[in-house]
Amino acid sequence: MRHLINTADFTIDEIKEIFANAAHYKAGDISLSLQNRLIITIFFENSTRTRSSFEVAAKRLGAEVVSLDVSKSSSSKGETLFDTAANLDAMNPDAIIVRHQDAGVPKILSNYVHCPIVNGGDGAHGHPTQALLDLFTIMENFPDPEGKKIAIVGDIKNSRVANSNIELLSRFGLDITLVAPPHFMPRISAYRKTHYIQEVIDDVDIIMSLRTQTERHTNQIYASLKDYASDFCISKTLVGDRDIMIMHPGPVNRNIDIDDALLADPRSKILEQVKNGVFVRMAVLENLICR
Ligand code: NCD
Repeated sequence: MRHLINTADFTIDEIKEIFANAAHYKAGDISLSLQNRLIITIFFENSTRTRSSFEVAAKRLGAEVVSLDVSKSSSSKGETLFDTAANLDAMNPDAIIVRHQDAGVPKILSNYVHCPIVNGGDGAHGHPTQALLDLFTIMENFPDPEGKKIAIVGDIKNSRVANSNIELLSRFGLDITLVAPPHFMPRISAYRKTHYIQEVIDDVDIIMSLRTQTERHTNQIYASLKDYASDFCISKTLVGDRDIMIMHPGPVNRNIDIDDALLADPRSKILEQVKNGVFVRMAVLENLICR
């Protein structure tokens, strides 16, 4: 039984195959390969695009989707996570997509079910399909991403998106610089680090901005997000006329993470990331369920 808990669960060859399928889907070459399959989504934490992206992906391939509304489910009546999982499993789904505020939950659940578990984001740990769709979008712009320079900017320490991207992008040979204030900088030492975006702006091909994960901070780190923005907002003025691809996993804090002018600029690929997310998740589901 295959699960997708971390980006490391797929080899480079498997990822290339997933991307080839995603590109076929994007070109309109779609078959109903998940017809008569049942996919359950269970999101214990808010989601704007990930849940709908998975649901659209499943439906485009013909699957039935049941979305458990956690606020109305028995979890809020005290049922343990494992009982919830065992009960869902008893309905015989073909995959369960789970998001949880605690790191490690999808991995633990995978021991209790008989179908693939897909991690839709767990705490500050991982968000593998986000990293996959990010790499897919990068490779549309840079078909050979080896050696391309990317700055990951923002609350890296608390970001599951950053974690998954660091694993995946370094495996594909991208040259990563972490740009963050001291409190948002992770302890890992293998990557170039700086507190100043100006230090790398002349040298990068891609900027991946991240949302400040205020919900994961135990105490307030900046006096205000405005203070943070004055150092780390990626603005059109900062980027100037440089040829830099701008990315963000969403939701964007406008004028805090990236300014309005740059969001509206064609170098910003954020909606393309969202669009690609459906095709990449289609290919991931197809891989996990049908192979
Ligand atoms: C991210 C998440 O929830 O991990 N968003 C997403 O899934 N596209 C990032 C965030 O919340 O900042």
